[in-house]
Amino acid sequence: MVIGIIGAMSEELEILLKEMSLEKKDIKAKMEFNYGTLWGKKVVAVVCGIGKVNAAVCAQILASEYKVDKVINVGIAGGIGENIRPGDLVIADSLVQHDMDATAFGDKRGQIPRLDTFDFKSDTKLVELAYNCSKESNEHKSFVGRIATGDEFVASVDKIRFLNKEFNAIACEMEGGSIAHVCYLNSIPFVVIRSISDNANTGAHMDFDKFKDIAVKNSTNILKNMLKLI
Ligand code: ADE
Repeated sequence: MVIGIIGAMSEELEILLKEMSLEKKDIKAKMEFNYGTLWGKKVVAVVCGIGKVNAAVCAQILASEYKVDKVINVGIAGGIGENIRPGDLVIADSLVQHDMDATAFGDKRGQIPRLDTFDFKSDTKLVELAYNCSKESNEHKSFVGRIATGDEFVASVDKIRFLNKEFNAIACEMEGGSIAHVCYLNSIPFVVIRSISDNANTGAHMDFDKFKDIAVKNSTNILKNMLKLI
């Protein structure tokens, strides 16, 4: 079994790449695919770059060329709602692309026209495993819910209200929904696990810098616990 691990930014995979026993490194589509063993499991770990196109290209390479059996996307996200704070973990049970808009044709916002699903559902076993491995503490809580993905760093209260009202989303980020889409098309079980770096409001970019490191640590820890049990 080979597990594909995707992070959007180098910081998001920095800790695990240091711990990995590397067998080979391939460059494809300007991305480094690190193949080897991590915490006892065969993995291909890759930094895909920011945004939906990078993430989709990366996920498709993992599917077509590495024939991965599962995909896990780890990283950071903006939290939606007052209960969710920086450092908390969000495990996506489903994802939507909030910037997909074919409402002019009568589709609901987020619906990819002519696709037979509205949202992309994470593998239920991976969600359960992730939740059990998330080890809530005084420092962080864990939430399971929908993530809204789009090519936008969300930094406005109006937008987070919209994402919550329209999609019932509890976090927003820029890759998960497109990785989920590619996994759906290739029938690969996946899960998206994010730790909150900011509350996607007007101070989001400053919080992002402040809390990024702790958020990365939290999402890496959960992955470590999961890989031992997968
Ligand atoms: N990733 C981390 N914070 C984010 C935000 N506020 N919007 C989109 N992606 C993010």
